[in-house]
Amino acid sequence: MYFDTHAHLDNQQLSPIVEQVVQRAAAAGVSRMTAIGTDVPTSVRCVEITEQFEHVYAAVGIHPTVCQNFVADEVWPAIVEMASHPKVVAIGETGLDLHWETSTFELQKNWFQRHIDLSFETGLPLVVHMRDCETEIVTMLEQAAVAGRIIGIMHSFTGSAETARRCLKLGMYISFAGMVTFKKSDELRSVAASIPDDRLLIETDAPYLSPHPLRSKRPNEPSYLVHTAACLADVKNISPERLGAITTANARRVFQC
Ligand code: NI
Repeated sequence: MYFDTHAHLDNQQLSPIVEQVVQRAAAAGVSRMTAIGTDVPTSVRCVEITEQFEHVYAAVGIHPTVCQNFVADEVWPAIVEMASHPKVVAIGETGLDLHWETSTFELQKNWFQRHIDLSFETGLPLVVHMRDCETEIVTMLEQAAVAGRIIGIMHSFTGSAETARRCLKLGMYISFAGMVTFKKSDELRSVAASIPDDRLLIETDAPYLSPHPLRSKRPNEPSYLVHTAACLADVKNISPERLGAITTANARRVFQC
């Protein structure tokens, strides 16, 4: 049994067919998943989906690549309110993104700190997006850790072994998506091999980047998680069943579900 820790089920390619998507996932052994919001409407939709399926959970937050579109005073109260919903198990997707440059770095840091504070207040873990900002994000998390205990997930991890080590030291979990299955990802697979069993997570990041050998298939969906699981089982030299048991236990621990 597998737990997809990161799927954008609200996405327009998945939301209208969410029943089939969840059914296909269950048939493939992906029995649990967390639907990840990226702003207020998508977070609302994710929460709505959790009410339809017993083993689907949600994360609520404002993504760093869209935060410039919102005024905090107007949208943040809705995120805070949703965070107390019984099926909401995490705060995010949040983080930093220096790739797209859709907003200033100062603004992104401000929003990220807001999510960190809410994580401290609620005890819910952070779902952290990191792109082209390894040093900046780890530095910010380490500084935040002075004020409280960081709990969270580095999602779709593509960073260095050193970044992973620093995140692990903070107590965070490291989640791998389809990219780890790609032919050219030897280095990322060696990072995955270095993650202790009790901190390893798997995800699809659906509908984005399907895993090998379904790379050309779109949209990606939670049932495809089995391919990422098989790859990581290989990396870890254990059976896919064992990999599933380990990562599902980790996901249920971090999400407290
Ligand atoms: Ni995402």
